[in-house]
Amino acid sequence: MFQPVITGTGVFTPSEIITNAELVDAFNAYAERKNTENAAAISTGEMEPIGISNEEFIVSASGIHQRYVMDKSGILDPAVMRPQLRQRSDDEPGIMTEMAVDACAKALDKAGISANQIDLVICAASNHERAYPAIAIEIQQALGAGGFGFDMNVACSSATFGIQAAADMIRSGSVKKALVVNPEICSAHLEWRDRDCHFIFGDVCTATVLERKEDAKGDHFEILGTKCLTQFSNNIRNNNGFLRRTREEGDDLPDRRDMQFMQNGRKVFKEVLPIVSKHILGHIEELGVGQDGLKRLWLHQANKTMNDFIGKKVLGRVPEEGEQPNILQDYANTSSAGSIIAFSKYSDDLAPSDTGVICSFGAGYSVGSVVVRRG
Ligand code: COA
Repeated sequence: MFQPVITGTGVFTPSEIITNAELVDAFNAYAERKNTENAAAISTGEMEPIGISNEEFIVSASGIHQRYVMDKSGILDPAVMRPQLRQRSDDEPGIMTEMAVDACAKALDKAGISANQIDLVICAASNHERAYPAIAIEIQQALGAGGFGFDMNVACSSATFGIQAAADMIRSGSVKKALVVNPEICSAHLEWRDRDCHFIFGDVCTATVLERKEDAKGDHFEILGTKCLTQFSNNIRNNNGFLRRTREEGDDLPDRRDMQFMQNGRKVFKEVLPIVSKHILGHIEELGVGQDGLKRLWLHQANKTMNDFIGKKVLGRVPEEGEQPNILQDYANTSSAGSIIAFSKYSDDLAPSDTGVICSFGAGYSVGSVVVRRG
């Protein structure tokens, strides 16, 4: 058995930012336009007017101040309200590959290795831009990596589940060096016309290099253990998929709400919190790491209040400044990439032997934890 370690991480951040102020302005312009169009039905009570959004609600309910996206012009156009991403020819790299190549280059650079030394690429994300060929194989080719690649989807937990899969293969000896990459284009499956969720997501891509401990060239984090859990729930759901054209309406299926991200946020909040706290506490206990032994929590980045709650439960006290770093105020929820962005940005200062936990949670429900110790 080989000891798996994380030797590098990288983050691709899109160049376009949408602030809450811009987002709310666009949403409210859309709402006003729709309410004017439907004024007659609204006045007879046949239809409810669309409520307006506001910045104070967004910040107090979620902690999010802005998000990065691949295309802001379409999202902010009240006549469009979705990103407009150019259709690429089959001979060009897809958008996920383009995001992945940037994040992987940064992670490989940090690890001090070249792409041709990689023998596993896992593209783990909450949506993939096509069914096949696997995006991971396109990324493998674009990087010049060897070995093999495959796609995984466990929604918000894709990155940690991918790290577990790669770590297990390194442990057993079937691969030597792996890249787990998470291109999350959440803007494309978010319903920007729904005020309950229009502020939630942003786009990003993260990448993590895993190697055998004896091959690590410099700074690294030993993976002490990984633990995954799933429990079925419909509270976060997206019904879009390839069976769409087999329905009665065929290719003309109307623009149904359930083709985009849907959630019952209150239920998710209440149900997921106890599962996650119990999961992390159980995992560190199995590994013989006490609450006091955790120097840092890199949590899934969906909601600030949720993270404050989990931090307090897991540490048994209110986390001190920097112990549970959030990035969601800048990036919003970036699905599986969130906890990896936090890890990538807030881990260099840890001392040798310092231990922490990366933990993602979300749709499925799914929870994945990776306990790491600075080498
Ligand atoms: N602007 C103003 N008011 C809004 C609003 C907006 N953008 N969106 C919703 N509201 C209103 C609601 O209509 C509701 O009004 P009502 O009380 O009159 O019905 C009120 O604000 C509270 O809405 P609610 O949805 O209950 O807010 P919340 O405090 O639960 O916060 C979430 C919403 C989504 C931020 C929160 O539930 C959450 O983060 N849940 C967990 C989500 C999660 O982790 N998901 C994983 C996704 S991968």
